[in-house]
Amino acid sequence: MEASNSLISVFITIILSLLVVAKSDNTVFNVLDYGAVGDGRTDDTNAFSKAWQATCSSSSSSAIMQVPSDKTFLIQAIRFDGPCNSKSVTMEINGNLVAPNDPSDWECEKSSCEQWIYFHRVDGLTVHGHGVIDARGKKWWNIEAFEISNSDNVNLRGGLKFKDSPRMHVVLNGLNSIFVSNISIEAPEKSPNTDGIHVSGCINAFIDHARIGTGDDCISIVDGSSYVTVSNVICGPGHGISIGSLGKNGANDKVEYVSVSDVVFIGATNGARIKTWQGGRGYARHIVFERILLHATINPIIIDQFYCDHQHCVNSNSAVQITNVTYRQILGTSKKKKPAVKFLCSESFPCRDIVVEDIHIAGKDEKDAKYECSNVYGRARGEKVPQISCLN
Ligand SMILES: *[C@@H]1O[C@H](CO)[C@@H](O)[C@H](O)[C@H]1NC(C)=O
Ligand SMILES: *[C@@H]1O[C@H](CO)[C@@H](O)[C@H](O)[C@H]1NC(C)=O
Repeated sequence: MEASNSLISVFITIILSLLVVAKSDNTVFNVLDYGAVGDGRTDDTNAFSKAWQATCSSSSSSAIMQVPSDKTFLIQAIRFDGPCNSKSVTMEINGNLVAPNDPSDWECEKSSCEQWIYFHRVDGLTVHGHGVIDARGKKWWNIEAFEISNSDNVNLRGGLKFKDSPRMHVVLNGLNSIFVSNISIEAPEKSPNTDGIHVSGCINAFIDHARIGTGDDCISIVDGSSYVTVSNVICGPGHGISIGSLGKNGANDKVEYVSVSDVVFIGATNGARIKTWQGGRGYARHIVFERILLHATINPIIIDQFYCDHQHCVNSNSAVQITNVTYRQILGTSKKKKPAVKFLCSESFPCRDIVVEDIHIAGKDEKDAKYECSNVYGRARGEKVPQISCLN
């Protein structure tokens, strides 16, 4: 009796899985079938829009828009809007995407000129492939290249390479569950505001295996972000991995539960950085930076509650509260005789529970290892180069 029962349940399992297989049809929409040329000169924007409409309105369980390899597609500013019918929408980018080379060839209405490639409200989106996404931003440097916003369960992965954004490269905005892995981002060291990955208002964000070298922050994590995990990143050139800036123009900004681990900074100006403006409110808390290697970094570890982007910053008696930040196993070299560790916190909102554990960051001469502290409370333990005696 028992044997036949279990036999029946095996049959039921097999039949159910067959049904699942039968139901999960992949429907593929190739941009070439919608008139894309891919010679790098013809404007393929319309073809991409049509292919997207077909993909997004497809009722198959998995809809795939394909950008084939060995071709270069010239596209203008474009929006990929959801919601889509399918629970799983994939854009497979194996060919290269380029923006117009000259700003005067840029066709977009003012309102859609904020981003070059923009995904909005596409739950279950995956973008992957080995294509190069080249925004050719050298001539303007004032719009974001690639943004995904207001979506749940998003994947960005598989060897995509982002290049020369006019402003930030990859903007993740208002996403719930986002996985980024195995991507590279590259722009000149002198390009302005070209953050690699900008995480804003995201909950449960995982960024793993990325090679990022730009003219601004490799990764910046700002207001409304929590449970953000960054691991296995090589950063440089660039301004480091930053939490902030927060609290600009009195904003009430909140960032918490951020983990940054296994990062190599090479040729970056900053390493682990938290920056907040005077006069802001909110908090940055429950943050860990660990297993980090630095090479010739100007500010390897820095908390700056006096951040501002111009000469005369006004002091204020409100600030974004910084608490519970741990720096563990951080090794490397700083630049010249600059302080390797800087905790510059405000008098009215001191930094609390700042923990430093096993750090060794020095210039040529270990005895020269310096630190700078103001209004910071916490503990230092294990190896301490520099000494950071303000934390004892
Ligand atoms: C990462 O991307 C590279 C380059 O496209 C590819 O060769 C490699 O297989 C990818 N690795 C993983 C783990 O996806
Ligand atoms: C401090 O932050 C860590 C890491 O996010 C967290 O696990 C821990 O619970 C926090 N401690 C307190 C007292 O909130």
